[in-house]
Amino acid sequence: MSGIRKKTAVITGVNGQDGSYLAEFLLGKGYKVVGIIRRSSQPEFQAKRLEDAKAVNHPGFEYVYGDLLDITSLIDILKEYKPSEIYNLAAQSHVKISFDQPIFTTEVDAIGTLNLLEAFRRECPNARFYQAGSSEMFGNSIDEDGYQRETTPMTPVSPYGCAKLYSYNIVKTYRRSYDLFISNGILFNHESPRRGLNFVTNKIVEGAIRIHHKKQKKLSLGNLEATRDWGHAKDYVRAMWMILQHDVPDDFVCATGESRSVRDLCSYVFSYLGMDYTEHVVQDEKYYRPLELNDLKGDSSKLRETLGWSPEFSFGDLMLQMIKHRSSFYGDLPPVMT
Ligand code: GDD
Repeated sequence: MSGIRKKTAVITGVNGQDGSYLAEFLLGKGYKVVGIIRRSSQPEFQAKRLEDAKAVNHPGFEYVYGDLLDITSLIDILKEYKPSEIYNLAAQSHVKISFDQPIFTTEVDAIGTLNLLEAFRRECPNARFYQAGSSEMFGNSIDEDGYQRETTPMTPVSPYGCAKLYSYNIVKTYRRSYDLFISNGILFNHESPRRGLNFVTNKIVEGAIRIHHKKQKKLSLGNLEATRDWGHAKDYVRAMWMILQHDVPDDFVCATGESRSVRDLCSYVFSYLGMDYTEHVVQDEKYYRPLELNDLKGDSSKLRETLGWSPEFSFGDLMLQMIKHRSSFYGDLPPVMT
């Protein structure tokens, strides 16, 4: 026995894209990782990303059932594990679905954060707390130079963005009121082979591969003109950890600084597979949002200069990984709900 106590991290949303990459990253650093999982009627599908992350049978990994909407479960978990770091990644994270389920989204993404903050304040106030903020909080505010950064006004345009902004503000309020170490990451879009198939990157990749293999003819999408700043989730979970290792709690934008339209993305993926997207992509009202966030391009200078973060994966690396991963399912592509 070395006598050195392992650091324990609690992650909400551990079986999501970011949770699974973060668990993998922290296990690699020797942490004990406790993942909070919500009860589901199909538990057999809950561990897929954690299996990909090689977390499931890892001796440093444990999962427990809990829910951001049930504060008693959060109090019990924090009381038992006394973590040194808490990462709040659980959310109803789909912007379009937040218009269909605004109340649930607000309960989980806003009140859920408050529940976790209260449990943390009571059970382990010396821990460090990371809150997953989003570039969706900016809405259509853009600085004159075309970027969004920590100082850009936040004027969200979706129930999801509004709920995330509540969490961002309550974190700042608790930090100042109770002298707690709580930091907000303001993360721009980040993708990976583990991305859900109803987010636009993986939806386009999956659709193009199916068309390429003659499993479908058309791909229905919504607004093609919106632009996003797409990075790799692996780079972004590293930023979350770096944010909690800083001397002081603070708020940081994490972004690549490069922006592309959904149309550009279609063109990139279809051309990669030797096709012309204009022959296959159709637009369907169903995928439009009542209000759209038009353009995102993040300036992450503060994160880069203060903490030395920079992305390791380029846009090309990201797309290649995603295309290769989905292609590996060819021949056995299950039906998808987008
Ligand atoms: N999902 C989806 N499906 N989006 C479409 C489609 C479609 O068929 N067609 C066009 N889009 C457009 C959307 O209107 C949006 O402008 C853009 O593609 C990206 O949509 P998503 O991939 O769903 O991501 P998002 O930008 O709304 O939200 C993601 O990024 C946020 C950070 O800014 C999510 O990961 C959020 O949880 C995250 O906070």
